[in-house]
Formats: sequence, C-alpha cells, structure tokens
Amino acid sequence: MSKNLQLYEFWCNKISLTNSAEFKSTSIDVLIDKLKETTGLKFDQYQRQFIEKRISFRMKNLKIDLYQDYIEYIRKNPIEVDLFLDKFTINYTYFFRNLSVFENFEKFIKFYVKSNKKEVLKIWSAPCATGDEPYTLAMILDNLKKTNTNFPDFKIFDSDIDTNALKIADEGIYGEYAVHEMPKHYLNAYFSKEINELGPKFTLSNDIKNKVEFIQEDIIREHKTKNVYDVIFCRNFFIYINHHARENLL
Ligand SMILES: C[S@@+](CC[C@H](N)C(=O)[O-])C[C@H]1O[C@@H](n2cnc3c(N)ncnc32)[C@H](O)[C@@H]1O
Repeated sequence: MSKNLQLYEFWCNKISLTNSAEFKSTSIDVLIDKLKETTGLKFDQYQRQFIEKRISFRMKNLKIDLYQDYIEYIRKNPIEVDLFLDKFTINYTYFFRNLSVFENFEKFIKFYVKSNKKEVLKIWSAPCATGDEPYTLAMILDNLKKTNTNFPDFKIFDSDIDTNALKIADEGIYGEYAVHEMPKHYLNAYFSKEINELGPKFTLSNDIKNKVEFIQEDIIREHKTKNVYDVIFCRNFFIYINHHARENLL
C-alpha cells in the first residue's frame, strides 16, 4: 500500500472515530477521570446524567466544545478545578423551604421532647448549602424554648462539601429571595434589615448563629463528628447521587 493511501486510511478512521458515540463517551470518561484526580471528588457516586450536565454547563460557559480542550484548559488553569467544583454543587435553598416539612418538624419535636428526656437535642442538617435549612431549625427550636419552660437546649450540626456556600452560611447575611417563604414573626424576631444599593439585606442574630456549627466534608465519604442525633435532615441531595451512594449514606 502506498504511503499516501495509508495516510488517507488513517485519517478516515480517525474522522469516523471522532464522530462516533464511542469516541465521545471515551473522551468524557477521560475528562471525568481527570476531574476525579484533581478535585478528589468521588464522581462515581453521582448520577451519570447529572455529572454530564454539569460538565456541559461549565464547558458552555467557557465556550469550549471538545472534552480534550477542556482537559487541556484545566492543565493550563489549575484554578478551574475550584471553579468547576463551585458550579458542580447546586446550592439552591431558602429558609422554610417546603413550609409543611417544618410545621411537621415542630409538631414532632414537641411530642419527642415529652417522651424522651433530653438535656441537649442534637440535629444534623446535611447537606446544608448556605445555611438556610439549619438556621430555620434553630429559629424554630429557639422559639419553642422561649415559650416552653421545660424545653431542652439544642445544638445543630451542618455539613456541606462547598466551602463557598459554607462561607455565606457563616456570615449569616441573606437577600430577599432567601427569606421569601419565612413567616413574618421569625423574620421580625431574628433578623435585622438593611437596605443598600443592591436591595434589602437580612442579617441573622448572633444568638441563632451561635447554635449552629458548620463542618466542611464529603458526606458520602465520612462524617467528622461522633455525635448521635435526635433528628437528621437530608433533603434535596439524594436526587444527585446514584443508588450505591444512597445505600452507603443511609
Ligand atoms: C440543593 S442543596 C440542598 C440544601 C438543603 N438541604 C435544602 O434542601 O434546601 C445541595 C447541596 O449538596 C451539597 N453537596 C453535593 N455533594 C456533596 C457531598 N458529597 N457532600 C456534602 N455536600 C454535598 C452541595 O454543595 C449543595 O450545597
């Protein structure tokens, strides 16, 4: 076979491979391996479709079309690993998200403290994102403690993998959307309102902030405390992870 013919066949094979689904799936696997190695995240615990959507979202933002180019981009810009992780985690949350859950929690906990004598109630909220869920629980318990003399003390522990979300939680300052479902008496009792050029800002009281301890961790891998909890909240997370990771976490 002539050298030119050999070269022609080589490129024909390459083009048909490049266009095939097999090539595309091989190269996203390589990218996922690269991300696994650089982020330390166990991607195989998440739903495959979820991972692919997050990768494609990030690549679209960067106007990168090919997985190989994104791998090269990560190699040249190591900061991209943090930026990818930042976009990978979906921090959507707000105070009193699904109000009836918290109404039921309040009914349950009143009943629970009557039948279980506790000095300190311990609650774990995981993952907690920007803190809206654990602070909601802290306000409900604080309100119960103020109105019931025998109500026990409480401590809330919260985990999330995302350091940026935890930073917001630690600051305890929120915009209008975060508090849109919050019953007015909680807003008035536990927040101070300030209006600046970006709109209203709501700052949570230190009394509530002090009841909550944030832990940065991958909850599929570990939990850093040895606490035994009275109640565990784990909401809007199972949808992202696969069957095996769900079993492990449970
Ligand atoms: C949609 S928020 C849920 C917040 C809250 N539980 C709620 O229902 O409003 C999902 C959170 O899961 C966190 N997350 C994703 N993977 C995680 C992991 N392996 N370990 C801990 N947190 C994780 C994300 O950072 C994000 O803040």
